[in-house]
Amino acid sequence: MAERRWRLVLTASPLQGHMTPMLHLATFLHSKGFSITIAHSEFNRPDPSNHPHFTFLSLPDNLSAISDFATAVQFLQTLNDNCSPHFREHLIQTMMMKKDKESIVIVYDNLMFFAGSVAGDLGLPSIILRTSSASFFPAIKIVPQLRQQGRFPVQASLLQEIVPELHLLRYKDLPFVGLPIQYALEVINMIIPKTPPSAILWNTLEFLEPSALTQIRDHYQVPIFTVGPLHKIIPTPSTSFLEEDTSCIPWLDKQAPRSVIYVSLGSIANVDEKVSTEIAWGLANSKQPFLWVVRPGSVQGFEWIEFLADGLVTEMKMRGLIVKWAPQKEVLAHFAVGGFWSHCGWNSTLESMFEGVPMLCQPFELDQKVNSRYLSYVWKMGVEVVVERGEIERVIRRVLVGKEGEEMKQRAMEMQEKVKVAVTHGGSSHNSLEELVQYIFSL
Ligand code: UDX
Repeated sequence: MAERRWRLVLTASPLQGHMTPMLHLATFLHSKGFSITIAHSEFNRPDPSNHPHFTFLSLPDNLSAISDFATAVQFLQTLNDNCSPHFREHLIQTMMMKKDKESIVIVYDNLMFFAGSVAGDLGLPSIILRTSSASFFPAIKIVPQLRQQGRFPVQASLLQEIVPELHLLRYKDLPFVGLPIQYALEVINMIIPKTPPSAILWNTLEFLEPSALTQIRDHYQVPIFTVGPLHKIIPTPSTSFLEEDTSCIPWLDKQAPRSVIYVSLGSIANVDEKVSTEIAWGLANSKQPFLWVVRPGSVQGFEWIEFLADGLVTEMKMRGLIVKWAPQKEVLAHFAVGGFWSHCGWNSTLESMFEGVPMLCQPFELDQKVNSRYLSYVWKMGVEVVVERGEIERVIRRVLVGKEGEEMKQRAMEMQEKVKVAVTHGGSSHNSLEELVQYIFSL
């Protein structure tokens, strides 16, 4: 009798912080014998030459025909509407042609919700991959309830108060504070699926966010697998959309141990010119060496670093390096890096944790404010940055020099140890991945 075989169709979102964990997951599942198809939009497509064992399915997204999107909701809706028909057609063809013993399972990023709908329509099992922190879930789930009770939009007087239902989070840490309520509700509607999938994978660790995971399990009532940090599960070729400037590594080699502050605000954040200028002054005045990633187009109204006055650039070059995109995981693992000034995207948070690097937290939106609060208040391996003249250099020195920084480093290293245990044989994430494989075989 022919052996049953599985084809997993992984539907990746075109955002860097979502594509990377999906490709790591795909590499792991391929190592377990599954055939892998990566379905992706034309926008921000992965490089197939880095993954020769996968099949790639490019979904026409027609995004280039639209010059500007008013909101992220419009972007996501258009992306989903446009990718859906080709995906459906491809699956119908595959199901018609497939051999009797081949099963198809859809694994999709929760932002690519069309894949879940198509799977449901065609009677295929579907599994969601969540790339944000688990603690983000209770923080978004509560927003509609707060709105009904008149606590959202949040009044200025409440911002510093703790949200009683969330214990750790202040109102200011909630997503969408200061944004139009209608927009908030539309995003929440999009990212909390109405029809539960067969199972959910979360790129987190069991010990890290136990209370949020309990709430998630209560809410969904489907198997939840905690499989993070996915970037440490199996070696995977580069997943960057932008070219990594590796010249920073020999530069780091010349710096003293734990002396460098690494600054990167992720792949999406658009930063105000004034804020970027304050960051520059803070770095220059801190008198510490620094490596600063300024992603092209990330400073509003500028192509790259033209917003910096000539005198400031000269001042900065004496002590630091500015690049367009860095090999971040390698940078964080480097002996010279003593602190990571980050927007607290979830991948950056996990990467810093895995390398035991304390963080300076400057969150923008979504789960970043929640992650920042956990880093500084619960895990105590980070401090919040106030972007003001004088404050920045003080906070850099707090982390890199002195007793408080030493204690933070100690806690970051304890965290690193726990994460390492979780991904090795017998650890919680390792076990969870093995259970996931058995689960898929059972579908
Ligand atoms: C987005 C959201 O902002 C975040 O809150 C959510 O958790 C995931 O999606 P993003 O801005 O992409 O995050 O940040 P993050 O999740 O930290 O991912 C950025 C990725 O880009 C990381 O894997 C990081 O290693 C990589 N990176 C960043 C580089 O490789 N080089 C760089 O110079 C900067």
